[in-house]
Amino acid sequence: MMNDLIDKFTRHFGGTPTAAAQAPGRLEILGNHTDYNEGFVLSCAVGQNTRVALRPIPGTVCRVKDFRDGAEMQFDLASPGAPPPRDGSRYVKGMALELAKRGHEVGAFECGLESSIPLSAGMSSSAALEIAAGLAMGVAFGIELDPVEWARAGQGVENDYLGLKSGLLDQFSSLFGRENSMILSDFRSVEVLRTVALPPGYAIVVINSMKKHNLVDSEYNTRRADCEAAARILSQLFPEVRTLRDVSLDELAAARANLDWREYRRAQHVVGEDTRVLAGVRLLEEGDVFSFGRQLFASHESSRMNFENSTPELDYLVELAKSTPGCLGARLSGGGFGGITIHLVEQDGAEEYAERVCAGYRKRTGITARSLVCKIGDGACAYTLE
Ligand code: GLA
Repeated sequence: MMNDLIDKFTRHFGGTPTAAAQAPGRLEILGNHTDYNEGFVLSCAVGQNTRVALRPIPGTVCRVKDFRDGAEMQFDLASPGAPPPRDGSRYVKGMALELAKRGHEVGAFECGLESSIPLSAGMSSSAALEIAAGLAMGVAFGIELDPVEWARAGQGVENDYLGLKSGLLDQFSSLFGRENSMILSDFRSVEVLRTVALPPGYAIVVINSMKKHNLVDSEYNTRRADCEAAARILSQLFPEVRTLRDVSLDELAAARANLDWREYRRAQHVVGEDTRVLAGVRLLEEGDVFSFGRQLFASHESSRMNFENSTPELDYLVELAKSTPGCLGARLSGGGFGGITIHLVEQDGAEEYAERVCAGYRKRTGITARSLVCKIGDGACAYTLE
């Protein structure tokens, strides 16, 4: 696939690229909105990825060719300005500026990109593009960062350039994902604690509600602010509390009267999610995949009731999951407010399961959902082409 991109680049720009990189999308398996609360997430990289090929050119004007839709964009590194409109170049430009801000020299370049990650669905196509573009720039301009710093640079693009106060999960999973394994990550120490295998005979099916979300415009930032407000109040009651990661369900219950209803439910979700992630990993390690599945359903219910980041479409997909044979658990995955659901299913019959759920969804909503039986892929990598 990379060779195909290199050929297209060469034909389009009339010369060969000197650097290339690929970065996968990710699935949040369990642990919703826990990353920026310094908590735990079980996630994986997917088989779908974004590929970038790049070569330095003189001057300050960069050219970006998106081979997905043929769009050609350019931007000037000398005029940082507001982000370009909603196209791929905003992530590429954002990453170039973020690296410059961090003191690295990034010159002008031509770059071509391609991706198999569905857009705006909750599989982190934007983080994958930031990481692939960043790693390719790293090769082309001799910038060496450790993987956590690459993840932070990608997060910087979202937080500072695009205004989405997201955590590290997406970029981190894209970099640290391992083929055929989920990863349990701790976002306080910012490390992978261990890899966790999906038991043989089971698969993850992704079903896209096809209701697009746009996290920047959504309530993502206000949810984060609610969590931080709750943590501030809890830290006055329990001095050891810095973030919601430090709060137990018992402490939260004891503090009920000190929080307003909204803050209480937001905190309930995050503290509950941390508990479910750790319980879920233990259950998988004990071989109890059925109880693990129930944690997924519980997570969705908490999103719906406590965090209010579900939608009627996502709720309906999860309802269908409960009544369709072969499914052990399902939930919304990612920021929420639309996008995808993930379904833990028996591998034999996974395609048929997806068809049945999509048929039920179409009947009720009139929307044709897209589904895929997911392959757990490897983390990002970069190549020198000279
Ligand atoms: C989005 C953000 C992540 C994380 C998830 C919710 O994907 O980019 O940082 O907060 O939502 O868990």
